[in-house]
Amino acid sequence: MARKTVLDLLKMKAGSQKIAMVTAYDYTMARIADAAGVDMVLVGDSVGMVIQGQPDTLAVTLDDMVYHGRCVARGLQNAHLVVDLPFMTYQVSPAQALESSGRLVKETGCQSVKLEGGERSAPAIEAITRAGIPVVGHVGLTPQSVHALGGWRVQGRSEADAAQLIRDAEAVQAAGAFCVVLEMVPAELAAEVTARLEVPTIGIGAGVGCDGQVLVCNDLLGLNSDFAPRFVRRFAELEAPAKSAFEAYVAAVRDGSFPAEEHSFHRTRSAKVARLY
Ligand code: KIV
Repeated sequence: MARKTVLDLLKMKAGSQKIAMVTAYDYTMARIADAAGVDMVLVGDSVGMVIQGQPDTLAVTLDDMVYHGRCVARGLQNAHLVVDLPFMTYQVSPAQALESSGRLVKETGCQSVKLEGGERSAPAIEAITRAGIPVVGHVGLTPQSVHALGGWRVQGRSEADAAQLIRDAEAVQAAGAFCVVLEMVPAELAAEVTARLEVPTIGIGAGVGCDGQVLVCNDLLGLNSDFAPRFVRRFAELEAPAKSAFEAYVAAVRDGSFPAEEHSFHRTRSAKVARLY
């Protein structure tokens, strides 16, 4: 099966089929998510927090995204691959945005790029899409502006903010984006934006009225016991069994029960082992 295209995703909205998107940062996670049937995989700049252990996404570089984008691309057969443009790789000018996007497409094999911002990012989106690179927009809470927003807060709560958010989403669509992420937006407002747009909306902390949902893979799998925002549902609790497995390994190494005979090699191979290697 070939990877899902922009047209496939637009058809999903037209057919009222929900889009399931997750983040991934490496080959193994991408392979598992792809086999599970996710429609879109995002190599998010959340890599800065989830993988690099930083307090926010601001220090992530284009080289980081190229590296993780390549790893993820090797694990995908069906899912559409989106890679994030990190902070300060598209804000300077539309020309910078186009150059950065071109690098992501050429060096990772992604099918689209994602950038944050509404009206202010429209010129960048126009430049990128004019060159034939599909763009996913991202409005609402835009983590690259965390300092300007005063923290990780729900956006669009007042009448004026809600009106601005609608203008932002419409500007992103008008500039050529084929999809828009809505992050931490009141559910009613996200549903209204979804009804107004022809392109699909993908929500995170934006209620059930969006055309699809995205979650960070480590949150979905319960690998971050110290991170529990309201919008995350853990579909598994993998941190505890992973920790138990490491503890069992440490104990087995210490008491000499690992490696056992079946994990060991000898100068004279047994007939059974010789057949295997
Ligand atoms: O970087 C990221 O993971 C994201 C999603 C949360 C949408 O932008």
